[in-house]
Amino acid sequence: MPELSFLFSQYGRVVDLLPEMVLILDDENRILDTNKTAADELGVVAQPTRPKYIFDIIPEDERIIFRRVLPFSDQLNFETKFCKRDGSTIDVMGLVRLLRLGQAKYWILFIRDVTEEKRKELDLLRFSNVIHNTINPIQITDADGMMVYVNPGFEKVSGYSSAELIGKNPKILRSGKHSKEFWSEVWRHIISGKVWVGRVENRRKDGNPFFTELVISPIVDSHGAIAGYLGAHRDITEQIILEQQLVRSQRMESIGTLAAGIAHEVGNPLTAISSLVQVIQRTSTDGFSNEKLELINSQVNRIARIIRELVDFSRPSTHVVKPTNINRIVKEALNIVQYGKKVKDITFTLELDEQLPEIAAVPDQIVQVFINILMNAVDSLDGRHGIITVHSRKNEHEVEVTVRDTGKGIEPLALEKIFEPFYTTKTTGQGTGLGLWVSYGIVKSFGGDVFVESIPEQGSIFTVSFPLKGA
Ligand SMILES: Nc1ncnc2c1ncn2[C@@H]1O[C@H](COP(=O)(O)OP(=O)(O)O)[C@@H](O)[C@H]1O
Ligand SMILES: [Mg+2]
Repeated sequence: MPELSFLFSQYGRVVDLLPEMVLILDDENRILDTNKTAADELGVVAQPTRPKYIFDIIPEDERIIFRRVLPFSDQLNFETKFCKRDGSTIDVMGLVRLLRLGQAKYWILFIRDVTEEKRKELDLLRFSNVIHNTINPIQITDADGMMVYVNPGFEKVSGYSSAELIGKNPKILRSGKHSKEFWSEVWRHIISGKVWVGRVENRRKDGNPFFTELVISPIVDSHGAIAGYLGAHRDITEQIILEQQLVRSQRMESIGTLAAGIAHEVGNPLTAISSLVQVIQRTSTDGFSNEKLELINSQVNRIARIIRELVDFSRPSTHVVKPTNINRIVKEALNIVQYGKKVKDITFTLELDEQLPEIAAVPDQIVQVFINILMNAVDSLDGRHGIITVHSRKNEHEVEVTVRDTGKGIEPLALEKIFEPFYTTKTTGQGTGLGLWVSYGIVKSFGGDVFVESIPEQGSIFTVSFPLKGA
C-alpha cells in the first residue's frame, strides 16, 4: 500500500474537514483511503490486509459506469447509488478525477449524498402528476392571485385553455352571481392564511354556468409567507342542474295539485252562477240590467276557460293512449291556429320527417300542446311579419318537434318562469299563463320533455320530445 502523502498538508489531513465524501482508488478500483465524512457515512474503512473495492459499495446494476467509462476518461461527473454497511443504499452525485503521480494513477472521488433531494424531487414529481391528471379542476395562483397553473381538468370544465388563463386573474371566470362582499370575504379569509371552503357559480368561456365546490388553501413557503393559493374544485354542475329541475318540478307539481283542487271547487258554483245569469237574462226586459248581465256572462266565461284548462290538466288519465302520428297532430294544430285573425302576415313552414315512427300518446292532448305552442309563437310576432317553422325528426331514442318563431323572444330571467302556472306577460283577457304549464304537464305524462331556447328580439325555439319506447 503506497503512502498517500498528497493527502497531508502542513496542517494535517485537510480532506477530513470537507463536508463531501472523498474516496481514493488505485487503478484497480481498490479503495485506498477515504476521508472522515466518507468513513462516517458509508462505514468503509480502508484496510491494507482486506482491500475493499469500489464495486463492493455500488449495487450491481449501477457498476457499469465505473467499469466501462472510468478507464477511458480523466474526469467524470456521475450519479449512482452507494450501499452502506448496514445494507441500506443512498443516492449520490459526484465527480471523479484522475491523479497521476509518476507511474501511479489514482482516482479521486468527490461525492455528495443526494438521497433527500431525490426524495423531494420524486415527491414533487408525484405531486405534480397527481395534480395534472386528477379529473378535479385545479388552479394555482401566485401571491397576488394571478393564475400560474391550471390542470387539464380545469381547462375542461371552464372551456378555456391553460394559455388563455395563465397570467390572468381568476375574476374572468366570475358569473356575477356572487356579491362583491362575498369575494372580499373569501380574500380576507385566505390572505390571513386560512383555508376557504364553499360553493361557487362560475362562467365558462361559452357563457354557460358551471358550479363547483371549491377549497382554496394558501401555499406557505418555509418562512411562513404566502407564496400563492391552490384552488381545488369539484364540479357539481350536473348535480346543481338536477337539483334545480327537481325543485322546479316539485313546485310545479304542488301548485298544480292546489290549482286543480281549487278549480274543481270553483267549477260547481260557477256553473250555478252561469245558469242563473242566463235565466235572468231570458226573463228580464230591463236594458241596463241586461247589459250588466252580459258583462257578468263574459267574465264568468273567462273564469270558466281558466277552470277548463286546469281541469283538463288534472285528469289526463280519462283519455285513451294510442299510437300517434306526430306529423298529423302538428298539421291538425296548425289548421286550427291558422283560422285566427292575427296570422295573415305570418309564413308557416313545415319541415316534417315523413318516416317518423308513431309514439304512444293521447292525440287530443298532444294537439292541445301544439296549439298552445303555436299560439304563443303567433302572439310573439304581435301582428308583424314573421316566420314560424315546425320541424320534426327522429333521434336515437325520441321523436323531436321544434317550433321556431322570429318573434320577440324571451328574456333570460323569464325563461325560468314561463312554464309556471299563471305566468303570463300578456294583458288580462289575452293570456291565462296556463298554456305552457298545461302543455308541459301533458308532455311529461307521456315521458317526454319540453325545452326552450330564446334570444330576445330574435325569436324562440320550443323543442318537444317524446320517447320512442313503448310506442
Ligand atoms: N314563442 C314565444 N315567444 C315569446 N314569448 C313566449 C313564447 N311562448 C311563451 N312565451 C312567454 O311565456 C308566457 C307564458 O306562456 P303561456 O303559458 O302559454 O301563457 P300565455 O300564453 O297565456 O301567456 C307568455 O306570456 C310569454 O311571455
Ligand atoms: Mg299561451
